[in-house]
Amino acid sequence: METYRWGPVKKLSSGGQAEIWLVRDPFLGVEAVQKKLRPTPGHPDPEEEVHRFLREVRTQLRLSQHHDGIMPILGSNFEDTPPWYVMPRATETLRDLVGRNLGGLPTALACQLLMKAADAVAYAHQEGIYHRDLKPENILLIHDRLTVGDFGFCRDTTTNSTTLTEAKTVFGTVYYMAPEQFDNAHEIGPQADVFALGRILYQMLTGRNPYPHQRPELLPSGLDYVVEVSTAEDPRDRFRSVVDFMSNLAEAQSKLMWRAGTPAAPPARRSKAPASHWGSSGPQAARRPAKEQGTLFDLAEYEPRDRAMVESSPGSGCR
Ligand SMILES: Nc1ncnc2c1ncn2[C@@H]1O[C@H](COP(=O)(O)OP(=O)(O)O)[C@@H](O)[C@H]1O
Ligand SMILES: [Mg+2]
Repeated sequence: METYRWGPVKKLSSGGQAEIWLVRDPFLGVEAVQKKLRPTPGHPDPEEEVHRFLREVRTQLRLSQHHDGIMPILGSNFEDTPPWYVMPRATETLRDLVGRNLGGLPTALACQLLMKAADAVAYAHQEGIYHRDLKPENILLIHDRLTVGDFGFCRDTTTNSTTLTEAKTVFGTVYYMAPEQFDNAHEIGPQADVFALGRILYQMLTGRNPYPHQRPELLPSGLDYVVEVSTAEDPRDRFRSVVDFMSNLAEAQSKLMWRAGTPAAPPARRSKAPASHWGSSGPQAARRPAKEQGTLFDLAEYEPRDRAMVESSPGSGCR
């Protein structure tokens, strides 16, 4: 795809590090999203910012070629000032989805989505990449496909290059950042991403910010344990890896569904549910009144691609 064709349609957001634009290729008639580096005024080492942005693009490109849970890169241009890259347009972020579900997402859906995000993060870890900035805003839904994006703060353990500013910078977002990341962002291990996943899980299930206090009593039985262990203060008390986190989450969810009397076989699929509708399904959601579920859209329309896997018998987990 030729990168010069992308023309601006409108600005979508403007963060500290970058501007996000909706762009269009008039020749192919497709829209996409462009992320443009926003250089920090007075930055002591502007080249380092470009270097870090390039690392974001390279890492995301490499990972997304092998895992569909990583936001793909469609093109980039580092000869332009500022440099930019283009990616598919997400329909919404996980932050938007949680925001639309005031009392928290239905348990089965929350587990299913988080398992997908965790699977992508586990793959990144396997490739020596720690994300370091996992949060609902950086998890994007392209219709029913969940992707992890924004690898701008990642740690690449396969190279030893740490710039001076990077070593001194506090990376991440306070709600989701592991305590050890405040002290030394460069030295963190896989448990920092486990911490963030635990906090995100809490927020998805309760609809509440996980900071400054979590209230475990609001969580479904068994999942309180998963959140508690993932978000332990000391990284040595957390699950050792994202894979470990995933198997504990799968087990907790299976037990929960077994107790709720989930049928072994999933219900027949409906044919015309729109792919962009994320809502509730699963036995617990079906039994709870709509008000309690707190969703603002038609739950009956929800038809995730992997529903059969979510609702299968205990032991199969929610992957
Ligand atoms: N591909 C995309 N499609 C739609 N919105 C996006 C996309 N990428 C980013 N955004 C929006 O822009 C925000 C900032 O993008 P992000 O890559 O996280 O940049 P930053 O480094 O500034 O955090 C995201 O939280 C999301 O709301
Ligand atoms: Mg971001």
